[in-house]
Amino acid sequence: MSTVTIAPLTESLPAFLDAHDFSDIAVIVDSHTARFCYPELKPLLSKHTLIRIKAGEEQKHIATCELIWDGLTRANFDRHALVLNLGGGVIGDMGGFCAATYKRGIAFAQLPTTLLAQVDASVGGKLGIDFRGLKNHIGVFQQPTTVLIDPQFLTTLPERELRSGFAEIVKHCLIADAQMWDEIRRRDLAEQDWAVLVAHSVEVKKKVVARDPTEKGLRKILNFGHTLGHAVETYFLNQPRKRLLHGEAIAVGMVAEAYIAFQKKMIDQSLLTQIEEYLFSVYGTVRLLDTDIDPVLALTLQDKKNRGSQVRMSLLSGPGECAFDITVTASEMRRGLEFYRGLNKE
Ligand code: GLY
Repeated sequence: MSTVTIAPLTESLPAFLDAHDFSDIAVIVDSHTARFCYPELKPLLSKHTLIRIKAGEEQKHIATCELIWDGLTRANFDRHALVLNLGGGVIGDMGGFCAATYKRGIAFAQLPTTLLAQVDASVGGKLGIDFRGLKNHIGVFQQPTTVLIDPQFLTTLPERELRSGFAEIVKHCLIADAQMWDEIRRRDLAEQDWAVLVAHSVEVKKKVVARDPTEKGLRKILNFGHTLGHAVETYFLNQPRKRLLHGEAIAVGMVAEAYIAFQKKMIDQSLLTQIEEYLFSVYGTVRLLDTDIDPVLALTLQDKKNRGSQVRMSLLSGPGECAFDITVTASEMRRGLEFYRGLNKE
């Protein structure tokens, strides 16, 4: 596992650069981080190349990678160069993928600027891009040289972005720490202690990834809520309706998958009710139409945890516990989504 440092970049970045001898440095930003975050970084670097891409999940494809590889090539970067990915999950996943494949791989550091990227995407070395409308369909596992988390960046985030990142914190508590779940579920979003929760999520994720870096088994628990959540997110990505942020879709997935675990007698009614009530209180409801269900179910067949055409989920087996490789049928998933829609309450 790479080192993860939670500190102001003014401290962590000079220390990291002093300990290495990189031939060149590129900073990858999008239009948001160019404006809100790059001004903090720029004074800490001497000569460097700035590569700027458009913001948004819809940019996370191979054509944007070509722009990044082009920037590195034009600046004559050799194999001793460093890429700094300054941004959220899109920049980290795609910038890391470009660095991991440029000249068969150069060093890269994740400088996550959103809560979602700080508590999840930047840690663990999953890199990649979307393809033909499927999320993270093309990619590699490659650990970053380091992850530098500056808590200051959270102060510039819109509340909707904080709420989206919070879904991954909820997931980490539900799969690994019942006591922390009990603490966060008694507070609303505005009352959460981000410093404590970022450090907690990083620790949960680091421990799991250290035991299974390439997701052969245990790491699949980090995908609780993501089989249906990713399918809902992908479906909405290709719809004219309002876009869903990642965490908003994962909240849908966690409620529906908690119901599937309840149906399978893996969790009891009280845990299901806690999860449902808390997630609805923080995220409200996403309107799913009857006609949305079949296309969402079809998308679950592309999930990376599946075996052939069998959908395999990571499902809660108690508060703070998660099992993986659980085979789930289309009708179980349908009932999970119907429970979410309020149609299947028991
Ligand atoms: N986001 C889940 C993982 O990194 O494995």
